Amino acid sequence: MQNPIKIGHRGAKNHKVENTLESIVKALEFDVDGIEIDVHKCASGELVVFHDFTLDRMTNGSGEVSKHTLNELKTLKVNTQFTIPTLEEVLNTVNRKCILNIELKGKDTALETCKVITKFVNQKGWAVEDFIVSSFQKHELESVFDTNSNLRLAVLTKASVADALEFAHTINAYAIHPNFALLTRDNVKTAQNAGYKVITWTVNDFETIKRMKSYGVDGIISDNPDRL
Ligand code: G3P
Ligand code: CA
Repeated sequence: MQNPIKIGHRGAKNHKVENTLESIVKALEFDVDGIEIDVHKCASGELVVFHDFTLDRMTNGSGEVSKHTLNELKTLKVNTQFTIPTLEEVLNTVNRKCILNIELKGKDTALETCKVITKFVNQKGWAVEDFIVSSFQKHELESVFDTNSNLRLAVLTKASVADALEFAHTINAYAIHPNFALLTRDNVKTAQNAGYKVITWTVNDFETIKRMKSYGVDGIISDNPDRL
């Protein structure tokens, strides 16, 4: 059985502060096959890499990410010392050393994500296959599909593999990304037989990593990519 691809979650979340350039660099040091990050669209239109919808947990700012301009967000400190990166800064840091799984976390992120990907494919030597665009939000995935049907789409779910597969079919998805607690050997096989990759999250402990590997998943997203 082939080893699943190893994907660092929010960079390498258990080693460096999540979704920062420092966390991306750390994941690359672990020789990952891919890195997962979250994006939101800020008030001035750029995509920023940040998990939460609000600034309060991770920064010295407050309120919704989407209500602040990039200039405002850049004045904030993440966990007292880091800055919020843009999607383009993350891409320049990854520099095609691994694939990038962009999770469309915030609203209205689909079109700008397509634009950034197209720019990096057309001008910076990236390939469409270097990206996976995932989301829990069906509307954002449909929007990406309508804009550029060549992109690799992944349906995130923490509720139902069957529902994810049903929706995956409508957008010609590349993969489903189920939480590991949903998986069985059988439903992994069912998804793969239907033509989808199965990439699971967020798998951090050795025992669960081993179990997911034994189910034959195609990829594992982990806060500890060094363990994969
Ligand atoms: O993409 C997998 C995983 O990151 C989804 O959940 O909350 O960590 O963004 P969350
Ligand atoms: Ca995520």
